[in-house]
Amino acid sequence: MRILVTGGAGFIGSNLVAHLLAHGAERVVVLDALTYAGNLQNLAPVQADPRYRFVKGSILDQALVAELLESERLDTVANLAAESHVDRSIRGPEAFVETNVTGTLRMLEAARSYVEAHPALRDRFRYLQVSTDEVFGTLAADDPKFCETTPYAPNSPYAASKAGADHLVRAWHETFGLNTLISNCSNNYGPYQFPEKLIPLVLNNALSGKPLPIYGDGQQVRDWLHVGDHCEALASILARGAPGETYAIGGDAERTNLEVVGTICDLLDRHRPKNAGSYREQIAFVKDRPGHDRRYAIDARKLARELGWSPSRSFTQGIEDTVLWYLDHGDWVRDVTSGAYRDWVAEHYA
Ligand code: NAD
Ligand code: TYD
Repeated sequence: MRILVTGGAGFIGSNLVAHLLAHGAERVVVLDALTYAGNLQNLAPVQADPRYRFVKGSILDQALVAELLESERLDTVANLAAESHVDRSIRGPEAFVETNVTGTLRMLEAARSYVEAHPALRDRFRYLQVSTDEVFGTLAADDPKFCETTPYAPNSPYAASKAGADHLVRAWHETFGLNTLISNCSNNYGPYQFPEKLIPLVLNNALSGKPLPIYGDGQQVRDWLHVGDHCEALASILARGAPGETYAIGGDAERTNLEVVGTICDLLDRHRPKNAGSYREQIAFVKDRPGHDRRYAIDARKLARELGWSPSRSFTQGIEDTVLWYLDHGDWVRDVTSGAYRDWVAEHYA
């Protein structure tokens, strides 16, 4: 596989790059604009690998994407580049439409021209769009889980922009015959997640003695998947997924936000105890997110049945590993929580 990974300096992208290199990829080219969420330190573990190349640039730059596909003779694309944080999409939706929708359009057009110029590549070429379960909207407590045939009903500007991108990908398969794949995954956690998302934010705040903000009543449910399991699913889809197909990926690990935060507090009490009291005392209920989806859950049986994938880590093990990773990587947390990060926290949690 000779692959272009966009957004490879972000949380999932950097984990995917390491996974692909560890599993025999011939060439891995990363294209990343290095927004506030992208960080070259996330790629430090693979920096010395001669099969890896980093290019700073945007997926909006179609000429650059086309040039990379051509000069590197790539046969695979995984598009992970995105604006990815729901709360930011509520404060400033425009960047989400620009990057997630227009950016995907440019990626698809670059891929289409490239394949059309190289007919011998047509059957082998794969374009994977890494999407989210948030495109399906929200579930009531007793609704069946989301699956590949659930109708799209996005509720946040982020989810709407990812839904728009998925529709473009589908159309490029149906209309132009591009070998596309779409994955819709549930909430990820693990190493290198930027501390604006719930789990690393709570870890960072807990260790800094700050309040642990729970939106609303904290009874919203997410289906948590360790990023390592997500990367294994993506690798299976790239290797054996059928063109034009969609795959739902989930952890079979539904937890309320309050349960997740409580679990993190208990793990910190065990691994980094405070002089007195529990981290649970820092929990603070704050104003709810507008349009806050109540429950996400994924039925990943298609992926199990057709590609033999299922998550290999339990949430209990995965969350403990993640807490230990953040405790061991204080330097990384310090580096990414300077400057722009502080401005975001000050504005959003004021
Ligand atoms: P992230 O915010 O950590 O990383 C996004 C990366 O994209 C960053 O490195 C950023 O610099 C880069 N980027 C942003 N705009 C760009 C542009 N115009 N050109 C090139 N690079 C650009 O996000 P993540 O959590 O790693 O998510 C990666 C992908 O997976 C996203 O598409 C997201 O929608 C999807 N996803 C995420 C989750 C999750 O729980 N985090 C779950 C399902 C799907
Ligand atoms: P998040 O990590 O932003 O992922 P998403 O919104 O894409 O699911 O949030 C996960 C859940 O945690 C979501 O229900 C919102 C909630 N949340 C809080 O309660 N407090 C916070 O400070 C954050 C960032 C999220």
